[in-house]
Amino acid sequence: MESEAKEVSMRLTQLAQDLVRARLGSRMIAVDATAGNGHDTLFLAQSVGPTGIVYAIDIQSASISATRQRIVDAGVDKSVVLIQASHDNWAAILSVEHYQKVDAVMMNLGYLPGGDQAIKTKPESTTKAIREAFDWLKPDGILTVLAYIGHPGGMEECAVVRSTFLEHLSSPDQLHEQPSRTGTNGPILFWCCCKSA
Ligand SMILES: C[S@@+](CC[C@H](N)C(=O)[O-])C[C@H]1O[C@@H](n2cnc3c(N)ncnc32)[C@H](O)[C@@H]1O
Repeated sequence: MESEAKEVSMRLTQLAQDLVRARLGSRMIAVDATAGNGHDTLFLAQSVGPTGIVYAIDIQSASISATRQRIVDAGVDKSVVLIQASHDNWAAILSVEHYQKVDAVMMNLGYLPGGDQAIKTKPESTTKAIREAFDWLKPDGILTVLAYIGHPGGMEECAVVRSTFLEHLSSPDQLHEQPSRTGTNGPILFWCCCKSA
């Protein structure tokens, strides 16, 4: 059962990367707002190359260490700024010159796989992080958020993700959702490629 859940979330993680890959290239700016074990940070760093910038944010030191190791091993650490902080106040984290110039933001909510499950994203800070993403993205930038329903508080967080996206879009049609195909308790990938003017 656990391996099935892992496989489902990996498919949606892959879909998130595919969506972002189509819009990201060299010299671009990206944010991984939940660095975790560094898989998305590595992907973003490889996508923007040595001339781009990736901000990788995570609240816990174990995630920052794991992400650092992954990008150093891959030789892409020069383009990554690692920040141990909560993701709900980007003015304290990102360079002001990147305000409204960010090309892509990825968030993979929940807890660190293999880590302390008590340290997990929470609806209140997740809402703030999504608002920050909309503020800092360029008008046609892409935002992906992978939300998990199956853990305590996950359902509430998922609802908050949906409503926060909708606050920022001119039409509900601009919000895309891909649920897992394995039942009602699986993860959901949310994304959009634009924001209200
Ligand atoms: C599912 S993991 C992310 C996986 C990651 N994207 C990867 O590619 O390995 C979720 C991460 O969110 C982090 N997190 C929880 N609350 C946070 C917060 N307020 N700000 C930033 N990161 C947070 C956790 O520490 C955890 O590492």
